[in-house]
Amino acid sequence: MEWAANTFALYGVGAAALATSMVTLGRRLELSQAKHRSLAGHTRMARRLAAALPHYEYDQDRFFSADGAPAEIVALRRAGFARLTDLYRTRFAETIRRSAEAAETISDLQFTGAYRVPFQFSRMVRANLPTGALLQASDGVTVTDLDGNRFYDLAGSYGVNVFGYDFYKGAIERGAARVHALGPVLGAYHPLIIENTKLLKEISGQDEVSFHMSGTEAVMQAVRLARYHTRRTHLVRFCGAYHGWWGDVQPGIGNPLPAHETYTLAEMSEETLHVLRTRRDIACVLVNPEQGLHPNAPAPTDSALVDSARWSRFDKDAYTRWLKRLREVCSERGIVLIFDEVFVGFRLAPGGAQEYFGVRADLVTYGKTLGGGLPIGVVCGRKGLMKRFRDDRPADICFARGTFNSHPYVMAAMNEFLRALRTPQMQALYQNLDDTWNARARRLNRRLADEGLPVEIANMSALWVVCYTRPSRYNWMLQYYLRAEGLALSWVGTARLIFSLNYTDADFEAVADRFVAAAKAMERDAWWWHDAKLTNKAIKRTIMKEVIARRLFARRQPRAH
Ligand SMILES: Cc1ncc(COP(=O)(O)O)c(C=O)c1O
Repeated sequence: MEWAANTFALYGVGAAALATSMVTLGRRLELSQAKHRSLAGHTRMARRLAAALPHYEYDQDRFFSADGAPAEIVALRRAGFARLTDLYRTRFAETIRRSAEAAETISDLQFTGAYRVPFQFSRMVRANLPTGALLQASDGVTVTDLDGNRFYDLAGSYGVNVFGYDFYKGAIERGAARVHALGPVLGAYHPLIIENTKLLKEISGQDEVSFHMSGTEAVMQAVRLARYHTRRTHLVRFCGAYHGWWGDVQPGIGNPLPAHETYTLAEMSEETLHVLRTRRDIACVLVNPEQGLHPNAPAPTDSALVDSARWSRFDKDAYTRWLKRLREVCSERGIVLIFDEVFVGFRLAPGGAQEYFGVRADLVTYGKTLGGGLPIGVVCGRKGLMKRFRDDRPADICFARGTFNSHPYVMAAMNEFLRALRTPQMQALYQNLDDTWNARARRLNRRLADEGLPVEIANMSALWVVCYTRPSRYNWMLQYYLRAEGLALSWVGTARLIFSLNYTDADFEAVADRFVAAAKAMERDAWWWHDAKLTNKAIKRTIMKEVIARRLFARRQPRAH
């Protein structure tokens, strides 16, 4: 009898264990279904594959014929490349010389220099088309290199430059004068901070503010606060979204460690909403509204431009609907919704992405332009969420400090920015902003199409991505033709053009003329040669074969130490 009871009990325990593991399995399955199908959606696999990817590079011949182009096309490319090399060596001589000197000891320059184009082409490009990293001046919408060449600036200082460089120069200068008497005293604040917090509360619609030194730190603090208050572990970030370089928000390639408490889910996905509705471990959802321009795709860069598959289109209505649904689910489930506006804040609307999309977040991070030209990170949030200690548990705190937080000079430049934002002159910049930039993009696209050039612009207001409409292995060359035409790009090349809002129609037309001229020169030099066999799929297949061959070959080589 006792034996029967024990057996029965054991069966009971077994059944309960089975049920629990079925539920766990089911939850894991739901998580998998909410991942984006791409590699960027599978961060662990991406890291493993990245670690296994061998280096190899093209020799002189293959460099010009990686797409199987015939000899006469290769000859045109060689001639074009030589012309461009000559032009770079003469026109940018001093800038290149001094940049090379700097790069010997600045590791960041070595990194960005190596990742401007797909790695198979990189060494030859670096040797022949070195990109200067030094500038001596900015003025209006232009920057000037050490050789005195003026470029229209499409790099936008990583998004800091919203109002034009002259504005920030003035903000820093006037701000410095206003806090000069206190100087760089830290710990105590300059009273200007009070006005800044008032203005930030108004803009963000939130109750409290904390100041940090970079966007990355602001995001770290927002996530930490969300975890502290919800007592849950996981953050949800969306596939492809950049939130700075802190480990938990960069679980894939680039971070040597896995991020165990991060879920990377697909954006604009029912399965994601289901996961948010059903899991109990999610503290917060991080949204970078810039992703509206290319949901679920990583921040584009020309070093990944191996074919013409880069695609982008901003659908404001669809993205707004998605954010609203996300808002609803987060409210239902007590999940903290964080808008990371470090990049797009103040670029789309004076009230940032919250105003632009009509959705209120629980915490908002800002950075970049808000510092009036100086380094900054800010978190704004609801009172309860911003609190860093518990009245009933004195040792249960959410710690956050930073030596340079609330630096008087930064507060002063920020104050100049925030005050300027309210002036009719700056408000006027936002009038019909999207219409203006959409019309400019349309105009340029029409010109490119009329010329039969395989290039198309996608834009979210004044943020642009260059897309390519004909399969090609050489789209990354366009950045070098654009520089030759006097257009300054950041190290990600044509992946992101950032216009400041002070571009006039005349400035823009000058950029458009140069853009078309660059694309025509690239077409003339035959880089966009194409035949029916050259599809994006075929290009990827070729690269895959090269990688496999390289792996097999490399195994037989003795290991280098
Ligand atoms: C959306 C977003 N969040 C955070 C960051 C990180 O900011 P910072 O470079 O100031 O650390 C960036 C930087 O580009 C960003 O675009």
